Amino acid sequence: MSKLIIDVDTGVDDAQAIMMALAAPGVEILGITCCHGNTPLQNVLKNTLRVLKVCNRLDIPVYRGCGEPLLACKRNAGDYHGKDGLGDSPDPDAPGLDLLNGRNAVKAMIKMVKENPGEVTLVATGPLTNLAVAVQLAPNFHEKLKALYIMGGNTESRGNTSVCGEFNFVADTEAAYIVLDRYTCPTYIATWEFSCRSSLPWSFCDTWLAQDTEKAAFMKKISNLSMMRARSADYQKESTAGKGFNSCDTYAMAAAIDNTIITESEEVAVTVELEGTHTRGMMVVDYMEMLKKKHKVTIMKTVDLEKFKNLLMNALK
Ligand code: BDR
Repeated sequence: MSKLIIDVDTGVDDAQAIMMALAAPGVEILGITCCHGNTPLQNVLKNTLRVLKVCNRLDIPVYRGCGEPLLACKRNAGDYHGKDGLGDSPDPDAPGLDLLNGRNAVKAMIKMVKENPGEVTLVATGPLTNLAVAVQLAPNFHEKLKALYIMGGNTESRGNTSVCGEFNFVADTEAAYIVLDRYTCPTYIATWEFSCRSSLPWSFCDTWLAQDTEKAAFMKKISNLSMMRARSADYQKESTAGKGFNSCDTYAMAAAIDNTIITESEEVAVTVELEGTHTRGMMVVDYMEMLKKKHKVTIMKTVDLEKFKNLLMNALK
């Protein structure tokens, strides 16, 4: 049984990633820790509970984490995910925040990892604020992780939030820097350009959402806005996708569930640019080994799209 902690800023693709993990055999989700990001933290908490309710898994503890970045200006991605983060499709029967676990997300993360040394895989699909605070509070925390999977950053200086910045790394640039500087566990990164190149054909999305289940109906409702946005010509140009829907966060999740999904990758030291008029938040890839960093991360280059689609199909069954 592989043990996961999922750190999210639940917008639409985080919801897809959570549902993928819930459906995967052999995966135990120890807890879901929430962070500001796609939408303000209150919405992230509500959205996460909504996802668990649809999947009948409200037994999984959900924790309140950081509501603000360490230093960066607060931002969210409401134009893409909807103001509420889930496509502006409210559910009058959504679970209340009284269902949250009372423990703070960062403390919960540290505790869960301490109790399961070497066994926990941490999947982070939002800004890395909770992870950065965790390593400040418990400096050896990362050494007890089995692995860390991150959706964020970029390799070719292509941004989606600023000229050179990907959303999660721009939304908390200092946190991204701290995590990539301190965490020495095996670290896998699904970057923005990689996820664009691995987009899903629209024909697959139609089949995926047409499944006759409550989960598929929920997914169709919450994805409507972002899929419409993603189909627009401007976005296709921006994202370099050119061919379909980019469910960014699910690539990191899929790799955490089944590492064999990664068909090509490279190991290299990375950091994050903290300054720069256009480059703040950009991931710096040290091919020249000038940073003299011992720890190298694994940057995902290609995935087995058929295996990936299979995990997604199962998520809505
Ligand atoms: C990332 O930003 C968010 O909007 C998505 O959920 C994903 O985590 C892509 O840049």
